[in-house]
Amino acid sequence: MEHKFGEIFDNMRKLKNILVSGGAGFIGCNFINFLLEQNIDFTGRIINLDLLTYAGNISSLEEIEKQFGGGRYIFERGDICDRTFVESILKKYNIDTVVHFAAESHVDRSILGPEAFIKTNVMGTFTLLDAVRNVWKTPEGGFRQDVLFHHISTDEVYGSLGETGYFTETTPYDPRSPYSASKAASDHLVMAYAHTYGLPLTLSNCSNNYGPYQFPEKLIPLMILNILEGKPLPVYGDGKNIRDWVYVEDHNKAVWTIMKNGLTGEKYNIGGENEWENIKLLQVLIDLVSEKAKLNPVKVREKITYVKDRPGHDRRYAIDCSKIKRDLGWKQDVSFEEGLNKTVNWYMTNDAWVKNILSGEYLKWIEKNYGQR
Ligand code: NAD
Ligand code: TYD
Repeated sequence: MEHKFGEIFDNMRKLKNILVSGGAGFIGCNFINFLLEQNIDFTGRIINLDLLTYAGNISSLEEIEKQFGGGRYIFERGDICDRTFVESILKKYNIDTVVHFAAESHVDRSILGPEAFIKTNVMGTFTLLDAVRNVWKTPEGGFRQDVLFHHISTDEVYGSLGETGYFTETTPYDPRSPYSASKAASDHLVMAYAHTYGLPLTLSNCSNNYGPYQFPEKLIPLMILNILEGKPLPVYGDGKNIRDWVYVEDHNKAVWTIMKNGLTGEKYNIGGENEWENIKLLQVLIDLVSEKAKLNPVKVREKITYVKDRPGHDRRYAIDCSKIKRDLGWKQDVSFEEGLNKTVNWYMTNDAWVKNILSGEYLKWIEKNYGQR
């Protein structure tokens, strides 16, 4: 039996042995925590495949390892670009579901060094797709009926908006940074594999995430930590670029909803419906962190430093996520106020995690325990 476009799997989609690529990164580790700790809906097993680059932190899953390690949770260190390794994992654990988070994810790094982005985001996605195409095929020329590949992508593939308008699922792609170009290429590969081979695939494009375990090179955690440490607060350009912020758990609930009930061959936008100019968001963060850490917000504001703009800096992102709301019944549960509160509290009480991920010590520990990359 062949998969048909638009088929709802519902009870057919068992999602038993899930391969999470990039599960030691920000969104991936929150996804694993969500599935194993909170989701009564899921009784299967998670294989976390992660290379542990600078952005991956295996200590984010310490509790999961203690509770579920060796049973419902297994960590495998490796590169998604390594075809032999990827196929061996798919077979070893009889993987029926892939949710693909692994990526190089920071725009500024992509401007400084695009090559790693092409390698991991384009070649890595290709390698995963082609590996499942091989491993999931049936002798009849189709694919196993119980499988799904969900690809995680970004709203940045759509380019930059002016003062009005929203990205919908049919907005033409117009990526403008090496990061977004590499993600756009990966999205095109995913849709091409759905159309050409009939692989059961779904795709989601999400706006800016925030929450616990985000590497402190991204705006929100960087600013929280710099405020706490009395460091300068670097604002790119005029500070009026706009991002649409969504709490990481709301994103992950949307991903799970798509994995359970999404239509194969379809893409879904996910967003916070929560647009903020960077400078206004920074003002809110300054007040919030100052109140919690008993700092003088007037003094903290003196640390705001307008710096040279990011080359090609996209002006505005804003997601229209009415499709996933209407078709799959998803909605955001966490208000910005609540999400920021949780996030600031988390960074203020997880000093060891921050030190660990920022220090070279962490990478040395990885090399000692897992060998050189
Ligand atoms: P992250 O940088 O925090 O984590 C990426 C993870 O991928 C790390 O654990 C890293 O070790 C791993 N990784 C990198 N290269 C690898 C390779 N070659 N093989 C195996 N593992 C590798 O990223 P994130 O913010 O958690 O983003 C996850 C996904 O979500 C990405 O695909 C990103 O494009 C997408 N996304 C992110 C956001 C956001 O705001 N952070 C928004 C929309 C979409
Ligand atoms: P970032 O968190 O890097 O996410 P993205 O570029 O994927 O949207 O940046 C969010 C916004 O904040 C973006 O407009 C760039 C801006 N920004 C600063 O002004 N200063 C900073 O130090 C950083 C990291 C980002």
